[in-house]
Amino acid sequence: MKHLAKWLDDALFYEIYPQSYLDTNSDGIGDLNGVIEKLDYINGLGFNAIWLNPCFDSPFCDAGYDVRDYKKIAPRYGTMEDMQRLIDEMHSRGMHLFLDLVAGHTSEEHEWFKASKSSADNEFSDRYIWAGEDDVFKNAGIGGMAKNTEGRKGKYHYNFFTVQPSLNFGFAEVTAPWQTPAGSPAAKRTTEAIKDIIRFWCLKGVDGFRVDMAYSLVKAEKEGRAGTIAVWQDIFAMMDEEFPECAMVSEWGNARESSLAGFPMDFYMQMNSLGFGDMFDYGDPEDVDGTPFFSEKGEGNAAVFAKDITRLLSENAGRGYLSFITGNHDIHRRPRCLPDAQFKITYGFIYTMPGVPFMYYGDEIGMREVLDLDPVEGSMYRTGARTPMQWSSAENAGFSQADEDELYIPLDSDKNRPTVEQQLADSDSILNFVKSILAFRKANPALKASAGTEFLFAQEDTYPLVYRRFCAEQSLIVAVNPADRAVSADISRELRLKPVFVFGGGAQVNASKIEMQPQSFAIFEEIR
Ligand code: NOJ
Repeated sequence: MKHLAKWLDDALFYEIYPQSYLDTNSDGIGDLNGVIEKLDYINGLGFNAIWLNPCFDSPFCDAGYDVRDYKKIAPRYGTMEDMQRLIDEMHSRGMHLFLDLVAGHTSEEHEWFKASKSSADNEFSDRYIWAGEDDVFKNAGIGGMAKNTEGRKGKYHYNFFTVQPSLNFGFAEVTAPWQTPAGSPAAKRTTEAIKDIIRFWCLKGVDGFRVDMAYSLVKAEKEGRAGTIAVWQDIFAMMDEEFPECAMVSEWGNARESSLAGFPMDFYMQMNSLGFGDMFDYGDPEDVDGTPFFSEKGEGNAAVFAKDITRLLSENAGRGYLSFITGNHDIHRRPRCLPDAQFKITYGFIYTMPGVPFMYYGDEIGMREVLDLDPVEGSMYRTGARTPMQWSSAENAGFSQADEDELYIPLDSDKNRPTVEQQLADSDSILNFVKSILAFRKANPALKASAGTEFLFAQEDTYPLVYRRFCAEQSLIVAVNPADRAVSADISRELRLKPVFVFGGGAQVNASKIEMQPQSFAIFEEIR
């Protein structure tokens, strides 16, 4: 995208998994009216944008990532009028809304696929990737091939579950007669169909999309993903022309490629990103043996991360932002035993990083993963990270008035489960920390998405982590020590600093040295 929508520079996103947020019609499943009801809460925390996970008509074999009709709201979430009200209510508060665009596959129940799998030739016959019954496709990268059971004889390619047939954007390299090249008329028609969906929603006022598996449209890609990049460049040319203030964030995990494709934002996440796993503990919620940087054990290493980010920022300069996440619907929540201080220090870090950050619903109260749940709608290992939002001490934690056993996913049964109600009332809560760090970010231009970043101290197996954020008007130095011990960093230059944000024991500055108390976080302003 040539044009970086200006509002992104100050955007603070909140991800809502609609099934689990707030149920207003007592059917056990969250809905759009529930999101509308909570807009003042979300905005009051400091968020000014929302990414809503798929809310479209779907048989829900993958929680809505199997779209049956891109232009229809799933009845369980409400109606098109409700969606319009959500858009309008958000805009009246100065907020922006992203929907979830599943661009690479549909549900097997989508009308396109129903036509495509019919034995009669029609305009959708090549909308998906089809091979003969005996053909093999080894170079898929993702997904696989599944046999069609009715109508057309043959196999189709799917991206994730077999019920998610892959749309045909062509092949980077054609090695069999059943493959169409990227850029072929069939592939172009698919791209136009995606543009049509984008137009439909942008014309209703939606501000853009999070794009599912954005990297994987063209199949059999070589390193560099030139084919998929070209498809997105075509789509962004339309966006620049018709909806220059709309934006998209890619699930790509490679900001260099995604920004070439035109994406103004790419998620920095577990896939392909070297430093992510070093920093955070989104592994098994019961496994506390790991040594991420953000742990009171203090055995982690931020050096790889700092190198990775420095590289991504320079490769990307001016073209797009990184998007840090506190979590999402695909990864585990952080370990249940994590102390509150660790959440606060992590959020202090995330909200002082460059780019456009996203917080997953519930992370503002340190909501914990629920263990040993049965999968729901293809959730697999992800169920426990998708449980109902914990609002209050009311029945079903204020999520729903349905019977407890009717809830979409069971609630955390721990009687000490954190709730919004309790944390709003506690000035020391994680929620109130989130509120203050978001307010701080908004008030300081050096923390804008586009402001500069320089790591001052990020050494192998050593704490703390120290970095500078800067712009023409301001220079801030951020020091982060999740470890349960006092640590210090020599920045090797004389520092003239005034503390402007402190958590825990904070930090003291002594000539070129920053000394930090255990489990603390501090921001200083440079006196110039
Ligand atoms: C990524 C989504 O975030 C995930 O929830 C989904 O299952 C797959 N893509 C397939 O669409």
